[in-house]
Amino acid sequence: MTYSPRSGAASGNWLARWLSACADLEDLVSHHHLLDATIEEIDGRRIRVGERWLIDFASCNYLGLDLDREVIEAIPAYLDRWGTHPSWSRMLGNPALYPQIEARLTGLLGAPDSLLLPTLTHIHASVIPVLASDGTIFVDSRAHKTIWDGCVAARGHGATVVRYAHDDPEALERLLRRHPKPPRLVCMDGVNSMTGNPPRLPEFFALARTNDALVYVDDAHGFGVVGERDRSETSPYGRRGNGVVRHLGESYDHVVLTGGFSKAYSSLLAFIACPPELKRLIKVTAPPYLYSGPSPVASLASVLVGLQVNETRGDDLRAILWARTRRILDHLEKLGAFTLNHSGFPIVEVPLADADDLAKAGRFLLDQGIYVTLAFYPGVPREEVGFRIQVTAANTDDEVTELLAALERLADAIPLRPV
Ligand SMILES: Cc1ncc(COP(=O)(O)O)c(C=O)c1O
Repeated sequence: MTYSPRSGAASGNWLARWLSACADLEDLVSHHHLLDATIEEIDGRRIRVGERWLIDFASCNYLGLDLDREVIEAIPAYLDRWGTHPSWSRMLGNPALYPQIEARLTGLLGAPDSLLLPTLTHIHASVIPVLASDGTIFVDSRAHKTIWDGCVAARGHGATVVRYAHDDPEALERLLRRHPKPPRLVCMDGVNSMTGNPPRLPEFFALARTNDALVYVDDAHGFGVVGERDRSETSPYGRRGNGVVRHLGESYDHVVLTGGFSKAYSSLLAFIACPPELKRLIKVTAPPYLYSGPSPVASLASVLVGLQVNETRGDDLRAILWARTRRILDHLEKLGAFTLNHSGFPIVEVPLADADDLAKAGRFLLDQGIYVTLAFYPGVPREEVGFRIQVTAANTDDEVTELLAALERLADAIPLRPV
């Protein structure tokens, strides 16, 4: 029998219900040529989809290491030595590359210890339930979907999940008073994947320390981009890219930091930075450590070499990243267009004046040769529907110039949300 989710016969079944819940997204996919697109070829940050060449401002490869000759040329020697794929789950056998990366990473972060797993999605799904046990999780309303999924898994194991208003320590404090059941875990993004802004970490950390709670931070977008501040820094992003905790001058007391290499470092690998006792616990309780297949050797190698590049050239790359992002932010200001970004970090979300213009705006930018991420409802609140520009150190100044011209034409054709 052919199944048709839209047919009357199918209405009321589970698939039709899911599709209707995702109607906005489905509608967008049918209108926007590049969602789910096949990319045939790349040339730097230009990508070819069908016959069309576009400038890619949707890449999260912030440091541009995916295109870095030093990284690319170093990888074959690792493949010769280790083959393409280790095969063992981490519990069964760890190629020496893992402890080497963990040692370097722990030093870079200035954290007590660290543990690598393939992705942040794996980490949230497996570590949040362990940390929350049958206690209480307080989760930021705008935390990444993968954090929410980890919380739902924890609820299945007996935890209570409570949501607090985005980046609002006062709201969290009230909820901490109302929900005393330990252990208590507070989950949030570091640099937010849509707003580009960091959370008010010092206030959250102070609250956690006085209330015996643990803060769990996902810094997928900050790690590699922002880092410790000092007078020798090459940009306001700070030095060394060691993440949002160090950037805000904080310690890891009552804090578990998670982050990924899949963005700034262009590799399939992620980490949890935590005390050694917790690392031991995760090793015996987290299914991705016990059972999941590992990251490919090319990914482990690109992280190791990437960490080396970060030490020698990372701050220069971050200075480029900052300068290119600044041009975009200054231009939006000139256009009188609002952006959620007040940090200067390389994630610039631009809401439209009218959410219903989204598909039209996406098409307009495509016609201008610009590829961005569309920010659709319910992924973002309705008043923030628009598009997200991401900048990488591999985007050239000329590409940014083309983007600015396209934004100007867009603003003439389709109203952007004003400041
Ligand atoms: C904030 C945040 N957390 C987690 C993830 C998922 O990361 P991974 O690919 O390592 O599972 C993403 C990716 O979009 C993200 O933006």
